[in-house]
Amino acid sequence: MNQPAILVAPTADTAEAVVAEHCIAAIAAHPRIVLGLATGRTMVGVYDKIVAGCARASLSLAGVTTFNLDEYCGLPEGHPASFRAYMRRHLIDRTDIDPARSHVPIGIDGAGYERLIAMAGGIDLQLLGIGRNGHIGFNEPGSAITSRTRIVTLAPTTLEDNRDAFDGCAPREAMTMGIATILGAREIVLLATGPAKAEALADAFGGPVRAGNPASALQRHPRVTVVCDADAAARLDPALRQIAATP
Ligand code: GLP
Repeated sequence: MNQPAILVAPTADTAEAVVAEHCIAAIAAHPRIVLGLATGRTMVGVYDKIVAGCARASLSLAGVTTFNLDEYCGLPEGHPASFRAYMRRHLIDRTDIDPARSHVPIGIDGAGYERLIAMAGGIDLQLLGIGRNGHIGFNEPGSAITSRTRIVTLAPTTLEDNRDAFDGCAPREAMTMGIATILGAREIVLLATGPAKAEALADAFGGPVRAGNPASALQRHPRVTVVCDADAAARLDPALRQIAATP
């Protein structure tokens, strides 16, 4: 079991900056890096800061390959709440990333997505958010630690949290990388901000690995960094917290 480094930044903005700087440094060191990407409200500021930081440093993303964690099933191409549209809006259309190297798990079966990841050499750096029920990607509570990319049914809390994006008819199913797929990344950075994430975060890293909190599986990975703001850190055991060096 590994206890990940849990870096606490004073605000969401500084926590986002810590994660963005980590990504920019990784891209600068390895321009052909394979990134695993997350969506959600938490990541919007991270992508803004990556876009701005890369522009400032004249850092090209043309050699980068990306694999998104998940996507809703059944949404028409271009639906604004789809994760494809999210990635275009927040990252792809604002940088020189090659859209042909930016993958989202849709229009392909789970095994095919796993093959694409393997053919790219595996994921070097996986970004993660966390649901308030502890989900990572769309691996809801109960997901097996051995799970791979597959179609899942979304939990009621997840449907509720994402309902506003859908005019009342949110998809009930999604394709998601599995927990084993996520644990296959060479490095993982999880970002949690806001008070709604405090309980899930404390439960993921303050207790044993258990299927009831999918993020707890990250204790099985040797290279995980958790970055959070003070609100999300509120219920963490103080012994687990480290102060983030803010960029
Ligand atoms: C979403 C995504 C996750 C994300 C999580 C938290 O629905 N599938 O990848 O990390 O839920 O979302 P948010 O950042 O909006 O709280």
